[in-house]
Amino acid sequence: MKRDFWERSKVWAAVTLAFGTLGFCLWFGSWAMPITYPEQRGYPIEGVAPIDLASAQRNWPGGEARPGDREILLGYVRDLEAGRVTLPQSAQQAAGPAAPVDLGTLLAGADAGRGERTAQVCMSCHTFEAGGPNRTGPNLHGVVGRAYASHGGFNYSPALAGAGGRWTYEALDQFLASPARAVPGTRMAFAGLRNPRDRAHLIAYLARVSPGAPPFPAPAPAP
Ligand code: HEC
Repeated sequence: MKRDFWERSKVWAAVTLAFGTLGFCLWFGSWAMPITYPEQRGYPIEGVAPIDLASAQRNWPGGEARPGDREILLGYVRDLEAGRVTLPQSAQQAAGPAAPVDLGTLLAGADAGRGERTAQVCMSCHTFEAGGPNRTGPNLHGVVGRAYASHGGFNYSPALAGAGGRWTYEALDQFLASPARAVPGTRMAFAGLRNPRDRAHLIAYLARVSPGAPPFPAPAPAP
Protein backbone atom coordinates (compact mmCIF):
# COMPACT_ATOMS: atom_id res chain seq x y z
CA MET A 1 0.00 0.00 0.00
CA LYS A 2 2.74 2.35 1.06
CA ARG A 3 4.80 1.47 -2.03
CA ASP A 4 1.84 2.22 -4.28
CA PHE A 5 1.63 5.69 -2.86
CA TRP A 6 5.26 6.38 -3.64
CA GLU A 7 4.97 4.94 -7.11
CA ARG A 8 2.02 7.18 -7.86
CA SER A 9 3.75 10.21 -6.40
CA LYS A 10 6.72 9.58 -8.62
CA VAL A 11 4.53 9.32 -11.70
CA TRP A 12 2.79 12.58 -10.84
CA ALA A 13 6.07 14.28 -10.12
CA ALA A 14 7.45 13.11 -13.47
CA VAL A 15 4.37 14.30 -15.38
CA THR A 16 4.37 17.67 -13.62
CA LEU A 17 8.06 18.13 -14.27
CA ALA A 18 7.66 17.20 -17.94
CA PHE A 19 4.85 19.69 -18.51
CA GLY A 20 6.64 22.31 -16.47
CA THR A 21 9.77 21.91 -18.54
CA LEU A 22 7.77 22.02 -21.77
CA GLY A 23 5.98 25.18 -20.68
CA PHE A 24 9.23 26.78 -19.66
CA CYS A 25 10.87 25.92 -22.97
CA LEU A 26 7.95 27.37 -24.94
CA TRP A 27 8.05 30.56 -22.89
CA PHE A 28 11.81 30.78 -23.07
CA GLY A 29 11.81 30.18 -26.82
CA SER A 30 9.40 33.00 -27.54
CA TRP A 31 11.23 35.27 -25.13
CA ALA A 32 14.66 34.51 -26.56
CA MET A 33 13.63 34.63 -30.21
CA PRO A 34 10.76 37.08 -30.66
CA ILE A 35 9.50 37.14 -34.21
CA THR A 36 10.49 40.32 -35.96
CA TYR A 37 9.65 40.29 -39.60
CA PRO A 38 12.05 41.73 -42.15
CA GLU A 39 10.94 44.23 -44.75
CA GLN A 40 11.64 41.65 -47.38
CA ARG A 41 12.20 37.96 -47.36
CA GLY A 42 15.73 36.88 -48.06
CA TYR A 43 14.32 34.67 -50.80
CA PRO A 44 11.30 35.26 -53.03
CA ILE A 45 8.49 32.72 -52.97
CA GLU A 46 7.03 31.96 -56.34
CA GLY A 47 3.48 33.18 -56.80
CA VAL A 48 3.58 35.30 -53.66
CA ALA A 49 3.54 39.06 -54.06
CA PRO A 50 6.35 40.60 -52.01
CA ILE A 51 4.90 42.45 -49.03
CA ASP A 52 6.58 44.42 -46.35
CA LEU A 53 6.11 42.05 -43.44
CA ALA A 54 7.77 44.42 -41.00
CA SER A 55 5.14 47.07 -41.59
CA ALA A 56 2.36 44.51 -41.34
CA GLN A 57 3.78 43.62 -37.96
CA ARG A 58 4.13 47.26 -36.89
CA ASN A 59 0.49 47.82 -37.73
CA TRP A 60 -0.59 44.73 -35.88
CA PRO A 61 -2.87 45.84 -33.05
CA GLY A 62 -2.48 42.75 -30.88
CA GLY A 63 1.16 43.32 -30.17
CA GLU A 64 1.93 39.69 -29.32
CA ALA A 65 1.40 40.46 -25.69
CA ARG A 66 -1.39 38.04 -24.96
CA PRO A 67 -1.19 34.29 -25.34
CA GLY A 68 -2.25 33.34 -28.85
CA ASP A 69 -1.41 36.70 -30.43
CA ARG A 70 1.66 35.24 -32.00
CA GLU A 71 -0.29 32.47 -33.71
CA ILE A 72 -2.92 34.94 -34.93
CA LEU A 73 -0.23 37.21 -36.36
CA LEU A 74 1.42 34.26 -38.09
CA GLY A 75 -1.94 33.28 -39.58
CA TYR A 76 -2.57 36.87 -40.67
CA VAL A 77 0.77 37.05 -42.43
CA ARG A 78 0.07 33.72 -44.13
CA ASP A 79 -3.30 35.08 -45.33
CA LEU A 80 -1.60 38.25 -46.57
CA GLU A 81 0.90 36.25 -48.52
CA ALA A 82 -1.75 34.04 -50.03
CA GLY A 83 -3.69 37.16 -51.04
CA ARG A 84 -6.74 36.13 -48.98
CA VAL A 85 -6.67 39.51 -47.21
CA THR A 86 -5.07 42.81 -48.20
CA LEU A 87 -3.16 45.23 -46.09
CA PRO A 88 -5.34 48.19 -45.03
CA GLN A 89 -4.69 51.38 -47.01
CA SER A 90 -3.11 53.17 -44.07
CA ALA A 91 -0.69 50.33 -43.55
CA GLN A 92 0.18 50.26 -47.24
CA GLN A 93 1.20 53.87 -47.05
CA ALA A 94 3.31 53.17 -44.03
CA ALA A 95 4.66 50.13 -45.79
CA GLY A 96 7.37 52.00 -47.66
CA PRO A 97 10.79 51.11 -46.37
CA ALA A 98 11.79 53.26 -43.42
CA ALA A 99 13.60 56.36 -44.68
CA PRO A 100 17.35 56.13 -44.11
CA VAL A 101 18.53 58.36 -41.29
CA ASP A 102 20.95 61.06 -42.44
CA LEU A 103 24.53 61.13 -41.27
CA GLY A 104 24.11 64.38 -39.32
CA THR A 105 21.36 62.89 -37.18
CA LEU A 106 23.33 59.70 -36.64
CA LEU A 107 26.46 61.61 -35.66
CA ALA A 108 24.52 63.86 -33.27
CA GLY A 109 23.50 60.73 -31.37
CA ALA A 110 26.77 58.86 -31.81
CA ASP A 111 28.87 57.60 -28.93
CA ALA A 112 32.63 57.84 -29.49
CA GLY A 113 33.18 55.34 -26.67
CA ARG A 114 31.27 52.69 -28.57
CA GLY A 115 33.16 53.69 -31.69
CA GLU A 116 36.42 53.10 -29.89
CA ARG A 117 35.32 49.55 -29.18
CA THR A 118 34.41 49.04 -32.84
CA ALA A 119 37.82 50.45 -33.75
CA GLN A 120 39.38 47.32 -32.22
CA VAL A 121 38.84 45.68 -35.61
CA CYS A 122 40.89 48.42 -37.27
CA MET A 123 43.77 48.12 -34.83
CA SER A 124 45.28 45.09 -36.49
CA CYS A 125 46.21 47.47 -39.31
CA HIS A 126 45.96 51.01 -37.92
CA THR A 127 47.15 53.01 -34.93
CA PHE A 128 45.18 56.00 -33.67
CA GLU A 129 47.48 57.81 -31.26
CA ALA A 130 49.42 60.95 -32.23
CA GLY A 131 52.69 59.96 -33.88
CA GLY A 132 51.70 56.28 -33.88
CA PRO A 133 53.46 54.01 -36.36
CA ASN A 134 52.06 52.90 -39.70
CA ARG A 135 51.19 49.25 -39.84
CA THR A 136 49.52 47.53 -42.78
CA GLY A 137 47.53 50.77 -42.95
CA PRO A 138 48.54 54.36 -42.13
CA ASN A 139 48.29 55.98 -38.71
CA LEU A 140 44.82 57.51 -38.41
CA HIS A 141 45.42 60.26 -35.86
CA GLY A 142 43.88 63.40 -37.32
CA VAL A 143 42.36 61.58 -40.28
CA VAL A 144 39.13 63.61 -40.25
CA GLY A 145 39.60 66.56 -42.58
CA ARG A 146 42.99 65.54 -43.97
CA ALA A 147 43.53 64.91 -47.67
CA TYR A 148 43.27 61.34 -48.95
CA ALA A 149 46.47 59.37 -48.86
CA SER A 150 48.45 62.17 -47.21
CA HIS A 151 50.01 60.56 -44.14
CA GLY A 152 53.78 60.80 -44.41
CA GLY A 153 55.81 57.63 -44.73
CA PHE A 154 53.02 55.39 -45.89
CA ASN A 155 53.05 53.78 -49.29
CA TYR A 156 49.46 54.23 -50.51
CA SER A 157 47.88 52.37 -53.38
CA PRO A 158 47.72 54.28 -56.68
CA ALA A 159 43.92 54.05 -56.39
CA LEU A 160 43.72 55.98 -53.13
CA ALA A 161 46.62 58.29 -53.96
CA GLY A 162 44.91 59.23 -57.21
CA ALA A 163 41.39 59.55 -55.83
CA GLY A 164 41.82 63.18 -54.75
CA GLY A 165 39.67 64.58 -51.98
CA ARG A 166 39.44 65.09 -48.26
CA TRP A 167 38.23 62.78 -45.52
CA THR A 168 34.99 64.56 -44.77
CA TYR A 169 32.44 62.80 -42.57
CA GLU A 170 30.47 61.79 -45.66
CA ALA A 171 33.55 60.44 -47.41
CA LEU A 172 34.52 58.41 -44.34
CA ASP A 173 30.99 57.08 -44.05
CA GLN A 174 31.02 55.88 -47.66
CA PHE A 175 34.53 54.48 -47.40
CA LEU A 176 33.87 52.57 -44.20
CA ALA A 177 30.60 51.16 -45.55
CA SER A 178 32.58 49.46 -48.30
CA PRO A 179 36.18 50.49 -49.00
CA ALA A 180 36.33 48.50 -52.23
CA ARG A 181 33.21 50.15 -53.59
CA ALA A 182 34.10 53.68 -52.47
CA VAL A 183 37.67 53.50 -53.78
CA PRO A 184 37.99 50.65 -56.29
CA GLY A 185 41.49 49.27 -56.15
CA THR A 186 42.19 50.31 -52.55
CA ARG A 187 44.58 48.12 -50.63
CA MET A 188 42.52 48.28 -47.48
CA ALA A 189 41.34 44.69 -47.23
CA PHE A 190 38.30 45.27 -45.06
CA ALA A 191 34.76 44.27 -46.01
CA GLY A 192 33.10 47.33 -44.47
CA LEU A 193 30.61 48.09 -41.73
CA ARG A 194 27.08 47.68 -42.99
CA ASN A 195 25.26 49.25 -40.07
CA PRO A 196 25.08 53.07 -40.44
CA ARG A 197 24.84 53.49 -36.65
CA ASP A 198 28.00 51.49 -36.06
CA ARG A 199 29.73 53.64 -38.65
CA ALA A 200 28.51 56.83 -36.95
CA HIS A 201 29.89 55.68 -33.57
CA LEU A 202 33.20 54.86 -35.24
CA ILE A 203 33.35 58.17 -37.12
CA ALA A 204 32.65 60.01 -33.86
CA TYR A 205 35.69 58.21 -32.44
CA LEU A 206 37.80 59.18 -35.48
CA ALA A 207 36.73 62.78 -34.87
CA ARG A 208 37.82 62.48 -31.25
CA VAL A 209 41.32 61.46 -32.32
CA SER A 210 41.42 64.27 -34.91
CA PRO A 211 42.23 67.51 -33.08
CA GLY A 212 41.38 69.74 -36.05
CA ALA A 213 38.15 67.97 -36.99
CA PRO A 214 35.39 70.22 -38.31
CA PRO A 215 32.00 70.17 -36.53
CA PHE A 216 29.60 67.37 -37.45
CA PRO A 217 27.20 68.10 -40.30
CA ALA A 218 23.87 69.46 -39.06
CA PRO A 219 21.10 66.88 -38.67
CA ALA A 220 18.51 67.07 -41.44
CA PRO A 221 15.27 68.68 -40.26
CA ALA A 222 12.49 66.22 -39.48
CA PRO A 223 10.04 65.92 -42.36
C1 HEC B 1 43.44 44.51 -43.13
C2 HEC B 1 44.02 45.76 -42.74
C3 HEC B 1 43.08 46.93 -42.51
C4 HEC B 1 42.00 46.99 -41.67
C5 HEC B 1 41.40 45.88 -40.81
C6 HEC B 1 41.52 48.33 -41.76
N1 HEC B 1 42.28 49.07 -42.63
FE1 HEC B 1 42.05 51.03 -43.10
N2 HEC B 1 43.55 50.91 -44.41
C7 HEC B 1 44.33 49.79 -44.66
C8 HEC B 1 45.24 50.05 -45.74
C9 HEC B 1 46.25 49.08 -46.34
C10 HEC B 1 45.00 51.40 -46.14
C11 HEC B 1 45.65 52.14 -47.29
C12 HEC B 1 44.73 51.90 -48.48
C13 HEC B 1 45.31 52.27 -49.82
O1 HEC B 1 46.42 52.76 -49.89
O2 HEC B 1 44.56 52.05 -50.80
C14 HEC B 1 43.95 51.89 -45.29
C15 HEC B 1 43.42 53.19 -45.36
C16 HEC B 1 42.47 53.69 -44.52
C17 HEC B 1 41.99 55.07 -44.54
C18 HEC B 1 42.49 56.17 -45.44
C19 HEC B 1 43.64 56.84 -44.75
C20 HEC B 1 44.33 57.93 -45.52
O3 HEC B 1 45.33 58.44 -44.99
O4 HEC B 1 43.90 58.31 -46.61
C21 HEC B 1 41.05 55.17 -43.56
C22 HEC B 1 40.25 56.40 -43.19
C23 HEC B 1 40.94 53.88 -42.93
N3 HEC B 1 41.83 53.01 -43.53
C24 HEC B 1 40.10 53.60 -41.87
C25 HEC B 1 39.95 52.32 -41.33
C26 HEC B 1 39.04 52.03 -40.26
C27 HEC B 1 38.21 53.05 -39.52
C28 HEC B 1 39.11 50.69 -40.04
C29 HEC B 1 38.31 49.86 -39.05
C30 HEC B 1 36.92 49.82 -39.27
C31 HEC B 1 40.08 50.14 -40.97
N4 HEC B 1 40.57 51.16 -41.73
C32 HEC B 1 40.44 48.80 -41.03
C33 HEC B 1 44.23 48.58 -44.01
C34 HEC B 1 43.24 48.22 -43.10
